[in-house]
Amino acid sequence: MTTRRAFRWPALLTPDGRGIAFGGDYNPDQWPDETIDDDIRLMREAHVNTVALAIFSWDRIEPREGEFTFDWLDSVIDRLGKAGIAVDLASATATAPLWLYEKHPEVLPVDRYGHVVNAGSRQSWRPTSPVFKEYALRLCRMLAEHYKDNPYVTAWHMGNEYGWNNRHDYSDDALHAFRAWCEAKYRTVDALNEAWGTAFWSQHVNAFDEVLLPRHMGGDSMVNPPQQLDYERFGNDMLLDFYKAERDAIEAICPGKPFTTNFMVSTDQCCMDYAQWADEVDFVSNDHYFHEGESHLDELACSDALMDSLALGKPWYVMEHGTSAVQWKQLNTRKRHGELMRDSLAHVAMGADAINFFQWRQSRSGAEAFHSAMVPHAGEDSKIFRGVVELGRTLAALSDAGLQGTELKRSGTAILFSATSEWATRSETLPSMKLGHWHDVRDWYRAFLDAGSRADIVPLAYDWSCYRTIVLPSVLVLSDADVRRIADFAEAGGTVVVDYATGIIDEHFHAGLGGYPGAGKGLLRDVLGVRGEEFNILGPEAEGEPDAIALSNGLTTRLWQTDVTSVAPDATVIATYAGEAAADWELDGTPAVTSHPYGEGRGIYVGCDLDRHDIAALIPSLGLGDVTDSRIIHTIRESADGAIRFDFYLNRTRGDVTLEGVPGEPVVAHRTEAGTADRADRADAADATIDAGGTAAYTLRRNAILITTTVRRV
Ligand code: GAL
Repeated sequence: MTTRRAFRWPALLTPDGRGIAFGGDYNPDQWPDETIDDDIRLMREAHVNTVALAIFSWDRIEPREGEFTFDWLDSVIDRLGKAGIAVDLASATATAPLWLYEKHPEVLPVDRYGHVVNAGSRQSWRPTSPVFKEYALRLCRMLAEHYKDNPYVTAWHMGNEYGWNNRHDYSDDALHAFRAWCEAKYRTVDALNEAWGTAFWSQHVNAFDEVLLPRHMGGDSMVNPPQQLDYERFGNDMLLDFYKAERDAIEAICPGKPFTTNFMVSTDQCCMDYAQWADEVDFVSNDHYFHEGESHLDELACSDALMDSLALGKPWYVMEHGTSAVQWKQLNTRKRHGELMRDSLAHVAMGADAINFFQWRQSRSGAEAFHSAMVPHAGEDSKIFRGVVELGRTLAALSDAGLQGTELKRSGTAILFSATSEWATRSETLPSMKLGHWHDVRDWYRAFLDAGSRADIVPLAYDWSCYRTIVLPSVLVLSDADVRRIADFAEAGGTVVVDYATGIIDEHFHAGLGGYPGAGKGLLRDVLGVRGEEFNILGPEAEGEPDAIALSNGLTTRLWQTDVTSVAPDATVIATYAGEAAADWELDGTPAVTSHPYGEGRGIYVGCDLDRHDIAALIPSLGLGDVTDSRIIHTIRESADGAIRFDFYLNRTRGDVTLEGVPGEPVVAHRTEAGTADRADRADAADATIDAGGTAAYTLRRNAILITTTVRRV
């Protein structure tokens, strides 16, 4: 159990240090010196007040071993600072210079087949390499010494997206560190043998120096799941240790400035266990790149909902997002008109107090030349740069209105997320290889929006006891202690929603006995009042078999049905499987959705997968959520004393949405028109006035966002 570092937010170079931070990754080392003055001119025009600097500049700072050159960086920082632009200075260790790899090829990671990973990209180093660590920490110390008193450096940006390329290292350094990690965790080999279930396939370990990494074992051989899960935890821990060593090296010399590192929270990836990492930074920050297609806004809000919980409700930092397209996907869709502003303000609506992009000026060479930026290839005379200027102005207006430091109001429902369960769902040894914990979390999140309500997303390991309802979508891994907390929550009056794949294994990937879901030695079954015996898995691969089963309430399941064979006498069966396909699979009449009183609360079991639309249909029938308006995402940020409140309204639809009775003064009305039925529509929202009653009507066009503020006289 770690304790969280105190929240510290980087100051801006404004007179009082306050304001919404706005800027991006700045890579002046890619450009001739004269471009830098032009950059600063444009940054000022765009209201940029902060940049993340030197993330990939190690080869510039230490061009040859032990030769440190700070002049160019001093000059850039000085020019930025004098222009009022604060610097979030990198530890610069994300990419090592080529001389280091030439001299020490033993720092290169090894893949699971035993191939050495080549240098030439990023993060080509082993987190467990003592040699690499020595070089990295020396660089950190040099930077700290040099910049500790620099007034323009207001935060430290450690590494960059730790773990993105090097979290799965199978080198001998990793092997030795893994053995030590296992020994520290299990203490005795007996405990490890028990946890890893080594009685299966003759895998008994006699001593910790027989412990293996889950390297490739030939053909399609399956890795022992508990060993794999521990290897994921180990990778997380090694990188977290590396981050802490870098942070501590700098902090010992430069204690006064806050530390962060950019997380990678979005619903298609789960790199690290950020519930742990969030304890080790002074302010949390994230890189988020939108998902193409209709989930764009919902997915952004879903990722941000987890960010806000990781930040424990304190403001957090968008370290990177895109002004438009990325260049690393199969399909790199650009942003439509309005989406640059809408996405940025959507992050603000979800609790962010800093909006930054990758990157300031679009590169003209290198792997990311076709990635969008704040100043595109087209230059300042461009839609994107004009959009950036408009955004900078808008964020400045929000700063003036007092937004910074207000906190996102919680909803009554917490969807629980667990990195361990996400890692576990990727195992190839489960009843289905199509499970995805994060995807199910996202489906539930979107379903709540579809049902006109908004949920929060909270790490399983955190405190969610203040919510009315918790939802556990494919939270595969539940320890006895987790189940105890869940049972206590229900006992005290909470509603617990558990789905088909939740609680089927414990923290060692052991299946619970006595029936499904088996977690908590039967306690989870007691809460839910159900007992299942088998899983019925469907799919088009089984040619000629029915691959969808109807439920008696009109919903459809297509992947997984728990064959529930008994239900407690006081449980209510809300839906059963019904119809021909159900009968064919011998599930006709089998309970699919149940509700069971437990203590002062209840346990709801959804024993099958459902798509997001069907979950949305189910939510009101289970009495979950507070129904408001499914066409919008509505969030509220409030100051701690309740004196000032901001309401954010985001249009989720592709058409116009008219909202009546909106309270407060409009601060931002982007693609929004003000008007009431008895008042002529106005084209320009800046003119919008508030009725005597204090409310107004607005029409939100596609990609619109409306922000109003209400000041309460206390
Ligand atoms: C991030 C990374 C940046 C840049 C960006 C492109 O993952 O931190 O350096 O590569 O992606 O989208």
